[in-house]
Amino acid sequence: MASENTIADTVWSSRLGFILASASSAIGLGAIWKFPFWAGTNGGAAFIVPFLIFTFTIGIVLVMAECAMGRAGRGSAVHALKRVGGPVFGIVGGIAVLNAYIILTYYSVIGGWCVSYMADSFIGNVVNGDPKILSNHFNALVSNGTVNVFFMFLYLTATCAVVALGVEKGIEKVAKYLMPLLFVLMIFIIIRSLMMPGSWEGMQFLFSFNWEQVSGATILNAMGFTFFSLSLGAGIMVTYGSYLSSHTDIPGSSVWVAFLSTQAALLAGVMIIPAVFAFGMDPAAGTGLVFITIPMIFEHMPLADVLAAAFYVCLFIAAITSSVSLLEVVVAYLINEWGMRRRSATALCWITLFILASIQALSFSSLSWVEFNGMSLFDFSDYVCSNILMPLGGLSIALLAGWKAWPVMKEQMLAIRPHSVFTIGWIRLTISVLAPALVIVVLISGI
Ligand code: PHE
Repeated sequence: MASENTIADTVWSSRLGFILASASSAIGLGAIWKFPFWAGTNGGAAFIVPFLIFTFTIGIVLVMAECAMGRAGRGSAVHALKRVGGPVFGIVGGIAVLNAYIILTYYSVIGGWCVSYMADSFIGNVVNGDPKILSNHFNALVSNGTVNVFFMFLYLTATCAVVALGVEKGIEKVAKYLMPLLFVLMIFIIIRSLMMPGSWEGMQFLFSFNWEQVSGATILNAMGFTFFSLSLGAGIMVTYGSYLSSHTDIPGSSVWVAFLSTQAALLAGVMIIPAVFAFGMDPAAGTGLVFITIPMIFEHMPLADVLAAAFYVCLFIAAITSSVSLLEVVVAYLINEWGMRRRSATALCWITLFILASIQALSFSSLSWVEFNGMSLFDFSDYVCSNILMPLGGLSIALLAGWKAWPVMKEQMLAIRPHSVFTIGWIRLTISVLAPALVIVVLISGI
């Protein structure tokens, strides 16, 4: 994929390159940090079952639709959607770009926590068997505004550096090796945590479904998480799709992306929640879950510090590949619509994001009094992006691909294998009726 100052001529080197880049956008803090604590706070299976249903019905088809619209329109999210759907859809693209930008303001804060834990693990300062000490460690980090801003700054700078230099050579290669390592490490940690007494209770919590725990809010959260974890509704797949060569099979690639990202989330759940039960912690403990449980799981293992360091390096890579995709959407827009050069566009984002992400970072300490609807700025931004803007973005794409531009969508869906469940009829039904209906019903009932 070329990364210079044009968008229209950029093409992925291969189908695998596209799948890896999209999967590495999808697999990030959403799967590993957010999924376990959201499953924990939303009743386990009551959250997971709707999440899986959303992913394998509307999620996959929306990934296909975004890629298709991107490839047909060739350009930034604004440019591509305007070209395929007219000026109104250009505005939809603009909202998607804004959404990606807002996500970056809070995503970078958690990215900063990863950097901090990575640094601590390098000096052997993370692994510990005492949940109290570990939650104090986490709270000390989160409540110290200056330290938070500092680590966020490092993370944001790394993200901008990658985008400024070009995504192709750096991040794609790193992701190719470190993503598999992340999976291997997670499986290793899962085996270890399932051996701990009491951990099976966690498996029951995760996988035994109980209707009573399902509410409008859990379903809205599950839908929001589906969009978040598949990087939908924020222009990512439109932008990445626009770099696709004309003969890459979109349906097949999209299934891979969805499959990999769901696996990562489920594995992360199985890695964290059983350990939470084994250590007698509260699964609803919230944002600190991954940071508090992982160091405990490694305790009493040979090479504990090395394993912890490897885990946080992988988490950092998972996070930064997603941040890069978010920033790429904004930078592609600035290049395409404002005629900026890649480096200047990235620098502009770096400065403005630093200011806004600092405000997010302080929402855990000096700005914790700022509340919207009972939520901190951080939670509120995530709520609006994941549960409202991303589904609305998805809804607009569904209306475009399923109705206004169905011939374009159909043409882009070449190479559907005859025995695939994703027949053209199914895709049409899902994108034109099921996806809009589900999104509307869930949004209305959830809000
Ligand atoms: N899917 C990413 C994750 O799970 C987050 C993300 C959301 C990335 C939206 C791009 C767009 O961490």
